[in-house]
Amino acid sequence: MAPEPRCRICGDAVVEFLDFGTQPLSDAFRDPGDTAEEFTYRLAVGRCGTCGMVQLTEEVPREEMFHEEYPYLSRGSSVMREHFRSLAERFLTTELSGDDAFIVELGCNDGTMLKTVAEAGVRHLGVEPSGAVADLAAEEGVRVRKDFFEEATALDIVAAEGQADVIYAANTLCHIPYMSSILRGVTALLRPEGVFVFEDPYLGDIVERTSFDQIYDEHFFLFSASSVDEMARRHDLELVDVERLPVHGGEVRYTLARPGARKRGAAVEELLAEERGRGLGDLAVLERFAERVREVRDDLVALLTRLRAEGHRIVGYGATAKSATVTNFCGIGPDLVEFVCDTTPAKQHKLTPGSHIPVRPPEVFSDDYPPYALLFAWNHADEIMAKEQAFREAGGRWIRYVPDVHVV
Ligand code: SAM
Ligand code: TMP
Repeated sequence: MAPEPRCRICGDAVVEFLDFGTQPLSDAFRDPGDTAEEFTYRLAVGRCGTCGMVQLTEEVPREEMFHEEYPYLSRGSSVMREHFRSLAERFLTTELSGDDAFIVELGCNDGTMLKTVAEAGVRHLGVEPSGAVADLAAEEGVRVRKDFFEEATALDIVAAEGQADVIYAANTLCHIPYMSSILRGVTALLRPEGVFVFEDPYLGDIVERTSFDQIYDEHFFLFSASSVDEMARRHDLELVDVERLPVHGGEVRYTLARPGARKRGAAVEELLAEERGRGLGDLAVLERFAERVREVRDDLVALLTRLRAEGHRIVGYGATAKSATVTNFCGIGPDLVEFVCDTTPAKQHKLTPGSHIPVRPPEVFSDDYPPYALLFAWNHADEIMAKEQAFREAGGRWIRYVPDVHVV
């Protein structure tokens, strides 16, 4: 029997509420001729009864996910490019406006955010373990250390470069199970008045939208204001600000500081009160979410099966890491979805993990529009709908499954 899962924040028991079964790595796109057995793990989510943190019950070794061939690129979305540019501008006029300011970004990926900081001539360092994407950041003039951030990395940076005014992480902190080491590292690296800012998918939005595909190997934690508040306190930090973000299907940007270093903003109490009001941390609420997830799965499979039986072609749009959970949980393969189009060079001409649906460049989609496109990259819907108007004009329809299964 597998050992009882223990919370990666406080060490107490984690109570499972949703099981997706055996899953492949969400970013392990596969060469068509490859017959090697795929790495699999059991994807299930639970909630710690003591500190309330929602987290996966099984951990995938980090080197399996973040390595030379890790394919995700921050620059793949124009909305995200603008999001990071405007945040960098904000940092430059606030936290980084002093003499010899210094910012460290964890998971800087291809340098999309730090590029603006580098161009302004401000001292910065990206910490990025995935080799190929780190090289892209360096090509943008960003200083990168190819490494996993953890306590030892932080101590090394402090010794070589001193403490930072800002430590920033987007869509990265929730990927890291070894949180005690991370937060000890943050505490060592942060200047006394500095801020640790991170943004990740928000549990509140995931539950409200039934966006179960936010749950996969790389998303180890599903943060909420209350669980981050508790996590910060246990590591001698304080949650001083929260900001809801529309990107990636609903995120929260959290700001942590040393206790007393910053005034706590009113937004923190407001979001904590909202979460209490809706019972976001209650197991019963999470169990109802799990029931809705199973309903969405059944509805989606029924719709795709009917459309295929009627002879319609269906193509997937966006070979997201998220869609690994959808295709493998629902049993969606090339019999239902002909191919998935995606702009990421490292994903094209490969097969989706586990479900083995071919990935094609976007031109293959526009060269011969199918009647139906299954929008896996639903978190970029506005951007995609705007640029794919010709698909609609040709009579094409989008299949969506967030917050429920519908055709538009
Ligand atoms: N920050 C970018 C963004 O929001 O578009 C990239 C997010 S990507 C989903 C997650 C990144 O975190 C990957 O580039 C991965 O290599 C990196 N990563 C994973 N573990 C890390 C760690 N311990 N320290 C620093 N980066 C890490
Ligand atoms: P993400 O949801 O993790 O950001 O991944 C989005 C994926 O969708 C990524 O592989 C790039 C792809 N994509 C497209 O193919 N076309 C687009 O217009 C956008 C915005 C993303």
